Amino acid sequence: MLNQIIKEVEEQCREERVPMLGPDKATLLASCVEKAKPSLIVECGTAIGYSGLWILRVLKTLGMGRLITVEIEDANAQRARAHFEKAGVAHLVDSRIGDAAEVLKTIQEPVDFLFLDNNKDGYYPCFQAIESQLTNPATLVADNVGRPEPMAAYLEHVRSHYDSKTHWFESRRRPGRRDGMEVSIYRR
Ligand SMILES: C[S@@+](CC[C@H](N)C(=O)[O-])C[C@H]1O[C@@H](n2cnc3c(N)ncnc32)[C@H](O)[C@@H]1O
Repeated sequence: MLNQIIKEVEEQCREERVPMLGPDKATLLASCVEKAKPSLIVECGTAIGYSGLWILRVLKTLGMGRLITVEIEDANAQRARAHFEKAGVAHLVDSRIGDAAEVLKTIQEPVDFLFLDNNKDGYYPCFQAIESQLTNPATLVADNVGRPEPMAAYLEHVRSHYDSKTHWFESRRRPGRRDGMEVSIYRR
């Protein structure tokens, strides 16, 4: 069922031009989750739940971990919730609505995995908002680093302080265009 819902949501995103990771980047994200075996993942930028479903599929297989996902658009968050319910994984997700940088300040639990895919100039404010809750170590994954200007402060910080690697992806729909995901291991 979960696999089928992921396919359906991917199709909806393509038809309605809702931004989503797509299967290549989602495979990297899933492998990072599998490796980290996190207890609590925070995702910034839920959209309609595509990347969340990929994360939740790994958590379900691992038999551990929860996801807090934050979205600013109420309609998107409602659709994502419906997808999580249909896929039978809603019990693993806490879906919150609001500006991620503000919502993250309210999280009081240890966070061992942060996935940034919200407004690009919000990456560093989100990191700063959650840093006091990050475990040592914690995994940080950031999308769309091929267009680095709005997130320059975030990239400068992770690349100069932590073990950090850019993973590049060729666009399937626009050959010749590429984008990256930054995977960093946060340590105090
Ligand atoms: C690229 S999409 C996320 C795609 C999603 N992670 C996926 O792969 O299925 C970015 C999302 O971030 C949301 N967003 C934009 N600014 C935000 C903010 N300040 N706080 C939280 N979410 C925000 C947008 O409404 C949009 O749904």
